[in-house]
Formats: sequence, structure tokens, C-alpha cells
Amino acid sequence: MPVTPQETPSVAPSKVFIKTYGCQMNVYDSERMGEVLNESGYVSTETLEDADLVILNTCHIREKAAEKVYSELGRLRKLKSRSGRDMKIAVAGCVAQAEGEEIVRRAPVVDLVFGPQTYHRLPDLLDRHRDTGAAVIETELPVDEKFAVLDAPSTKPVKRGVAAFVTVQEGCDKFCTFCVVPYTRGAEFSRPADRILAEARKLVDAGVREITLLGQNVNAWHGSGLAGHDWTLGHLLDALSDVDGLERLRYTTSHPRDMDDDLIAAHGANPKLMPYLHLPVQSGSDTILKAMNRKHTAAEYIELVRRIRDARPDIAMSSDFIVGFPGETDADFAATMDLVAQVTYAQAFSFKYSPRPGTPASTEAAQVPEDVKTQRLADLQAVLGKQQAAFNAACTGRVLDVLLEKPGRQKGQLIGRSPYLQSVYIDAGDHVIGDTVRVAIESVGPNSLTGHMVEA
Ligand code: 5AD
Ligand code: SF4
Repeated sequence: MPVTPQETPSVAPSKVFIKTYGCQMNVYDSERMGEVLNESGYVSTETLEDADLVILNTCHIREKAAEKVYSELGRLRKLKSRSGRDMKIAVAGCVAQAEGEEIVRRAPVVDLVFGPQTYHRLPDLLDRHRDTGAAVIETELPVDEKFAVLDAPSTKPVKRGVAAFVTVQEGCDKFCTFCVVPYTRGAEFSRPADRILAEARKLVDAGVREITLLGQNVNAWHGSGLAGHDWTLGHLLDALSDVDGLERLRYTTSHPRDMDDDLIAAHGANPKLMPYLHLPVQSGSDTILKAMNRKHTAAEYIELVRRIRDARPDIAMSSDFIVGFPGETDADFAATMDLVAQVTYAQAFSFKYSPRPGTPASTEAAQVPEDVKTQRLADLQAVLGKQQAAFNAACTGRVLDVLLEKPGRQKGQLIGRSPYLQSVYIDAGDHVIGDTVRVAIESVGPNSLTGHMVEA
């Protein structure tokens, strides 16, 4: 529409494109970065070519994850010089925290580097860059300041879909010898319970029906609850289950040492807590668990799973595994396969050990050869894949509650999640995203279930 002389032409808002790598905590951080920028006049774009600001929110957990960032920066450099536009490029997240200035040295196209605990300062960082023209690098770890700023009332509505993440805990004091998290995310920090409850209520008002509580060590969360009592995660889950309109709760990722009695009991007693638990074990060998500084044995983990299943017999168990940790022998690997056979998992994530600079295990002499790692990973994934298929197959003929989350590919089809976190495809009829429907499961694919709706 042509602008008439009486009207003041408005300046087009700047556009930000955020690309997220890695874990769900980064997904949450990217959403919050979007909100912080939104408050200072940015709008989000899904089109890289349109962006005035591109943020890569990065992951440093394994070498491959970190290298992807440098490849993407190479592509962005070409895009920027081809288009001739003044596109600002920022690297956020754990690679930013771990590598700091090194990023600008390797990729001079980068204008801003900021770690996971400083994104609330984004508007200031952008101003500083605009004023000086120089690259700005911000890698402090003021996590309590971050949440204090992010928890301030916002003038803009939140948009998070039906299933949302809420970070309740950050950082880690466990120092597993393979892991960068204690260095990139800093010391353990728990957000106050009242702020978490306030965020949950705000999300539910915006249409959220399921909340997954996030933390690198989420079950180490603790805080002072209502009426001054000390709370652990089980109490927080109970308080959240009183939020009207919130239907489902999940939490991830947990450490076996922090599964306390209240949390185990919550799996039996809290009807909103979904029967799915990601509880990484990493290895089934006591020698390797000790070398990893995991602070538990294989037998203790197996006993813990037994107690959790006592509380909630149908719970879907999930885990992370590392193969080829320094010093891992054939017998150690066989112990991992044995643990998997005893526990039986509904889902699992497994990785070859990747030496990370600055972590104790990276300098161990007894590194495992690449071909051995490859073979062990294939053997482990074959068994885990069979267990997952068996878990899914056992759902055929059952009626499951499905929370409808997004449109499917076919007309009228919606995709939802079962209580066990499986994707379920159905013809939803008059039902809409956000409804929970009863679905009779008919068939099972490798990664999803299909079924038809039945009366409640
Ligand atoms: N090498 C391989 N896998 C790793 N993980 C963490 N650090 C490493 C590493 N150095 C895996 C662990 C962890 C998951 C998030 O990533 O299994 O639970
Ligand atoms: Fe890393 Fe998890 Fe170990 Fe913490 S508990 S050091 S986040 S693997």
C-alpha cells in the first residue's frame, strides 16, 4: 500500500534468524533469546537470506557438534559477501563459552560471541558492537543474573506451542571425566520455585499443555518451596501438577545419584508425571564407570531402575551410552551389553567417545582405536534398536492418551505424543492441536505409531 503524505513511514524491524544445535536446553535458550530480542524490536525470520542478525546457538559436547559450527560460519561468510548486506553474525552457546576469542580468530566474519549465561545482555552486546565496530566477546557465567533478568515481567505475549520446555536447573558439579558441561555451563544452579511456577502459569495461559523441566542435572534441582520448606524435584513436580490446565509433566536429564525417594515416589503418585524417564548410565562396566567418575556402579543403577519400576511398572526407560571410553576392554563393553539386556530400554542415545579439550579423559593414554569404537557402537545400537522396536510393538492394540501437537503431512492428519513420548499419527476429525485424545494403536513403524480415535 502506498504511504500517504500524512502517514509516517515506519522503519522495518530488524530480523533475526536463530539456528539451534544440540540439546533441548539450547532449544529453550534460543526461544528466550528470541523473546529478549523481540522486546528490543527484532522479529524472527525463518529465511536466512532475509536476516539482519544470524545467531548460531552451538553445542560443544562432541567434536563433530563443534566442527559443524565452523562449516556453517564458512557458508555464512560466502552468503554475506555474495549478498553484500550488512548481516551481523553471532555465535552463542557452549562453543562460544569454550572457545571465546578463538572463534573470531578462526572465523573473522563473526561479530558477537556470547556464552549460555549472558544472552539476557544481547541488546547491550549489539549496542556495544554498533558503537565500536569491533567483535564483542562475552563469556562470563552470571547464571543467577540471567534468570533474574529473564524473569522480569514481559510486555510481549509468549508463543511456545502445546509442549514447552522450562529450564529449572543449569550447570553441573558432577565432573564426569569425559564431559565439557561443568566448564561450559558452570556450577549447578537451581531457579527459585516461585519463578518456575509463575513461568508455568504464563505458558499454560498461552496454550501450553505439557511442560518438560530441563536441566543438565535436572534432578539435582532443589529450592525453598512454599511455606519455607526445602524442596527437591518431586515436590516441584507436585506443585506444578496443581497448575490448572497443565496436563502433562516431564523432566530431563537426570543423574542416577540424584534420584531420591520423593522423586521415585512421584512416578507412582503424580498422575500428570508421564511414564518416561531419561536416566543415562553411560556404561555397564564398574571399571569404566569409576574412570568416568559416575559415582555409581552398574548394580546400583539396575537396582534403581527396579525401584522406579516398582513405583511405575509401565515406565519407558531411556539412557545415554558412550562406547570406546579410554581403557574400555572387550569385557567392559560386554558388561554394557549385559546391562542393556537386563534393563531393557524404550529408547536410547549412544555415542563414540570423543576426546574434549580440557577434560581429564582426553589426555588418557589408553585411547580406543576408531575401528573398535565403530564396531562397538554398531553392536550396541543393533540391540537398542531391537529393544525400542519391541517396546513400540507391545503398544499395538493398546489405547493411549495422545496430546495433539502439530499437523501431519496428510490432510486432516495430526501428530501427537503418547505418554511414552512416541510420535502418534492420527486422523483427528474435529479435534485440534492442544486436545488430548484416546487412540487405539493399530500399527507401529520404526519411529512412530498410528491409530484411530476411540471415545474417552
Ligand atoms: N564423548 C561422547 N559422548 C559424550 N557425551 C558427553 N560427553 C561426551 C564425549 N566426550 C554424551 C553422554 C551424555 C550425552 C549428552 O552426550 O552420553 O549423557
Ligand atoms: Fe556432564 Fe551429565 Fe556428567 Fe554433568 S552429570 S558432567 S552434565 S555427563
